[in-house]
Amino acid sequence: MNNEKVRLTVRGKFITFEGIDGAGKSTHIESTASLIRSRGAEVVVTREPGGTPLGEKLRALLLSEPMHLETETLLMFAARREHLACVIEPALDRGVWVISDRFTDATRAYQGGGRGVDAAKIEQLARWVHPHTNPDLTLLFDLSREVAQARLTTSRTLDRFEQEQGNFHSLVRSEYLKLAQAEPSRFRVIDASLTQEKIKKLLEKIIITI
Ligand code: TYD
Repeated sequence: MNNEKVRLTVRGKFITFEGIDGAGKSTHIESTASLIRSRGAEVVVTREPGGTPLGEKLRALLLSEPMHLETETLLMFAARREHLACVIEPALDRGVWVISDRFTDATRAYQGGGRGVDAAKIEQLARWVHPHTNPDLTLLFDLSREVAQARLTTSRTLDRFEQEQGNFHSLVRSEYLKLAQAEPSRFRVIDASLTQEKIKKLLEKIIITI
């Protein structure tokens, strides 16, 4: 008989929130976490880029510093590797649920759809950085670029992505919708033009199914 401990802990669930800037996902993250906690699970709420001390430093660079688009993609994945190793994977292994404000779908949509980075390169990095950890559920907050832009607060300076002009955000949005169509069992598309109350009710219904 060997001495290896039998792992009895059920792995936590990994939920990601996605959408174009101004779609309003952040408002619903905390209420979703509270809902899950009220059902007895422990939850960690985190974000990308960021979520670790190093990741937050990389976030500051990514949101402000002009850089080559492939450098941007690699830094997103560097921050993600640190995030997975230090926060996401240890939590899931302990049975804790993780809610992340953005994950690899944001790279697919922003760097792939928005900037035109080769999708095959992004998938290669995704397989390298997180071969075994993918979201169980992705909530995509979908909203037209026009409404999202109007919602972006004018009381603070917009970051490098929010400042993008032209059809950048429309390309990001359509890439997100393509991703959702390709993986309907993982994605739920939320109509972000609905009232906050209606969205909260929708999220409650979705959460009890996973
Ligand atoms: P965001 O969640 O929008 O932060 P905040 O709500 O505080 O503005 O994320 C910051 C930006 O980073 C957002 O514009 C999308 C961008 N981003 C990418 O371009 N690629 C990625 O892989 C990730 C995780 C984020």
